[in-house]
Amino acid sequence: MNAPAARGLSPADAAREPGECAIAFEDVVKVFRSRRGDIRALDGINFTVPPSDFVSLVGPSGCGKSTLLRTVAGLEFPSSGRVLLKGEPVRRPPLGLGLVFQRDVLFDWRTVLENVLLPFEMRGADASAHSERARALLTSYGLDGFHDRYPWELSGGMRQRVAICRAVIDHPELVLMDEPFAALDAFTRDDLNLSLQRLWLEHRATAVFVTHNIQEAVFLGNRVVVMGRSPGRIVDIIDVNIPRPRTLAARETPLFIEVCARIRRTFEQMGLMRGDNAGEQP
Ligand SMILES: Nc1ncnc2c1ncn2[C@@H]1O[C@H](COP(=O)(O)OP(=O)(O)OP(=O)(O)O)[C@@H](O)[C@H]1O
Ligand SMILES: [Mg+2]
Repeated sequence: MNAPAARGLSPADAAREPGECAIAFEDVVKVFRSRRGDIRALDGINFTVPPSDFVSLVGPSGCGKSTLLRTVAGLEFPSSGRVLLKGEPVRRPPLGLGLVFQRDVLFDWRTVLENVLLPFEMRGADASAHSERARALLTSYGLDGFHDRYPWELSGGMRQRVAICRAVIDHPELVLMDEPFAALDAFTRDDLNLSLQRLWLEHRATAVFVTHNIQEAVFLGNRVVVMGRSPGRIVDIIDVNIPRPRTLAARETPLFIEVCARIRRTFEQMGLMRGDNAGEQP
């Protein structure tokens, strides 16, 4: 295997031993084989995520964001290279993992509370012993009074809140989120960004958050990993040194604007965004 520096790791990444990282990607390549030819979904992915870090992953559609997340979740495996969790290669979905997807994947025949308690049932624990905690979590997410409703009675934003509560109820060490707020309006999205930040500050799980939205990536992340496509690869990694808790007004600070502009320029250089249409997302 190449030395860390030769693999393109940043000095901070290279200085860490694999066991010290919550997640480490080492030369990860993923090729999907299909009748119409091979798709190189990931190419030469090298970066690490320290414990309790919050990393945003931003990039255009098809650049491999979901594939990358799925290799961490043990739902997909690299064609070459390794994905390590606390120094151990991922071979199956790890224990202590919370997952949130773009579509909320709630069970419509179970109440909100029963949906949130599902992780306990899945591991054979007594779910009823945790119902007080589930109720408190739902209440803190603005869902007081909705515990006994069914998902189909809720708005999209409320459903996504329930999905987040379910992902974090068992205090996972690792939370992976794949565009959880993509389908929501801007107001709900802002609100959930603030809730998610609060939750992360309380529990400090290691978090990887995938989004198309540059502002959201910068607002939430301690670091933003920027991806390009064909093949899916990392084109930039940026530290976001904006103190927490961040308020929505943080988005008006020069540092925030500068980081967003740097990402936008990177997409422009790759031909993924036109400079004369600043509102366009990749
Ligand atoms: N199971 C699969 N079989 C074949 N090709 C796949 C499979 N999963 C993903 N791909 C391909 O791999 C590439 C990356 O897909 P992926 O879903 O990871 O992208 P993404 O960045 O998450 O995109 P989006 O932002 O649209 O969700 C795409 O070209 C996609 O068509
Ligand atoms: Mg995706």
